[in-house]
Amino acid sequence: MNKLSKILSFVSISLLIMTNASAQDWNVTADQKAMTLGVAFTEDIQDAGNGIYNKSCKMCHGEVFVAPSNERALPLAPNLGATDWQAANTDGEIFAKITNGKGGMPPFSGSLSEDERWKVVAFIRANYDAYVPPASGNAAAAPKVEKFKGTIKDVEAIYNDAAQSFTVRVIAVDDNGHPAKAKGVKVDLFVKRYFGNMALIEGQRTDENGEVNVDATGLKANLDGNVEIIARTNDKAFAKEETVTIGYPEKWENPIEGRHMWGTSARTPLWLLISYLTVTLGTLGVIGWAVFQLLRIYNLRER
Ligand code: HEC
Repeated sequence: MNKLSKILSFVSISLLIMTNASAQDWNVTADQKAMTLGVAFTEDIQDAGNGIYNKSCKMCHGEVFVAPSNERALPLAPNLGATDWQAANTDGEIFAKITNGKGGMPPFSGSLSEDERWKVVAFIRANYDAYVPPASGNAAAAPKVEKFKGTIKDVEAIYNDAAQSFTVRVIAVDDNGHPAKAKGVKVDLFVKRYFGNMALIEGQRTDENGEVNVDATGLKANLDGNVEIIARTNDKAFAKEETVTIGYPEKWENPIEGRHMWGTSARTPLWLLISYLTVTLGTLGVIGWAVFQLLRIYNLRER
């Protein structure tokens, strides 16, 4: 076989396998289909599911956005926010599909625990307005949280000098690509310190302008009057590190000032200076005396 026909047969076999795989069925049993959400439908659990989705699913399925239909020619992984797909699938069906996989969709029975898979289902359902959580357990009691429906593009933090506060803003677009105000997105704001980051806010939701206002009065700058901050969405999908000038430097207190023995510190007590000098000069004197004596012995031998 020459090279070309080898490549051609490889391609056709791959195509055959692919079409065969997508022609397979999901094989969801009636029992699986009848299962209802296995976790509480709370905000925390939906957010946890969002985190898992970002790590394990987003690279193939992309953003979950609400659209009437989930048809996507390419890539093959469908949009899991589509209303017709959400309506056609039970909780148990979605769970079974995630568990077993099919064709290009890997099975997650091994890499995600049952609890984690249910959490992802809760996250997927949070994007479906018509979803009614099962009436059992604490799932029913939890109020449904309104999720931001557009696509997040970026996050930024702006320092307001007069008010001594930060504005953390989520930049987003709606389904038509127009700028949108991202309400209800959880964000964090950290200040970088010598030993780790200090959180000014964590997991706070943006208001109707897509912003969170963060009080920063009394925040200490570095020697140069700057602070380094990290603004990010709570799911870590978007983050921005910036250096912000927040005013004049504080006098920097050296934490070990005055406690060390050998510094040129102005605070060194007199007794320490005198004993240091005495010991040092004494030691040098003894060494000098020893050398002098050795030279004398050497000279005696010469004679
Ligand atoms: C490697 C890429 C890839 C990853 C990672 C992936 N998927 Fe999929 N997924 C696919 C493809 C491709 C299909 C379509 C399979 C088919 O119809 O043959 C699919 C189908 C699905 C379906 C069924 C949709 C339908 O038509 O009913 C669900 C539900 C799903 N994926 C959820 C998830 C979840 C949840 C995760 C993360 C835990 C995930 N997927 C991770 C590629 C992926």
